[in-house]
Amino acid sequence: MTHPRPGGWFITFEGIDGAGKSTHLPALAQALQAQGRVVLQTREPGGTPLAERLRELLLHEPMDPLCEALLMFAARRDHWQRAIEPALAAGQVVLCDRFTDATFAYQGHGRGFDLGVLDTLERWVQTDAQGRLRQPDLTLWFDVPPAVAAQRLAAVRTPDRFEAEPLAFFERVRAGYAARASAAPERIVRIDATRPLPQVWAEVESVCRARGVLA
Ligand code: TMP
Repeated sequence: MTHPRPGGWFITFEGIDGAGKSTHLPALAQALQAQGRVVLQTREPGGTPLAERLRELLLHEPMDPLCEALLMFAARRDHWQRAIEPALAAGQVVLCDRFTDATFAYQGHGRGFDLGVLDTLERWVQTDAQGRLRQPDLTLWFDVPPAVAAQRLAAVRTPDRFEAEPLAFFERVRAGYAARASAAPERIVRIDATRPLPQVWAEVESVCRARGVLA
């Protein structure tokens, strides 16, 4: 089978907790695999043994916003070097549940942490050997109002340190995603995730076809 583009793709899934993004990631992986692509499904924080250990701390240990931002990027560095970059270099498609946009949205807009410092950390962590800042090729932002997301979450699990935040926190996080999307409209696509699952999935497919990710 021929592919629309032979090289690797780096696609990230974003949204506030309860937006439903994690349901669509395996579905896209399956669709890509059916077209003969090799897919790495991964997540942040996490994705390597070290980063998964940092994830446990980030989700459950109390810490200040600077410590939180540094640990997010420490986990990201390991994930980037040991998992994402090698997979992309091998021509695979990397589907990552959250990435740096989440740090800007949660630590930056949610916690109020300095966005300029986050810019610097992003450059340290994601600059390649040629000096280019590496970003996802495509980011799918699953957007829902925080009240809808909270209802969905209440039904399924005990909240972690982030999920336990009040609605006002998630309003700021959502505004953070909106700001990221308007600053990078060619990369970040907003998907209205309040609709029924099949409609949301149909849009994921159609965005991926339009971008040449799916044949
Ligand atoms: P998950 O539940 O979607 O796997 O994400 C874990 C939590 O970590 C989620 O509540 C969002 C938060 N998070 C940040 O605050 N900053 C980040 O950079 C990332 C990747 C996740």
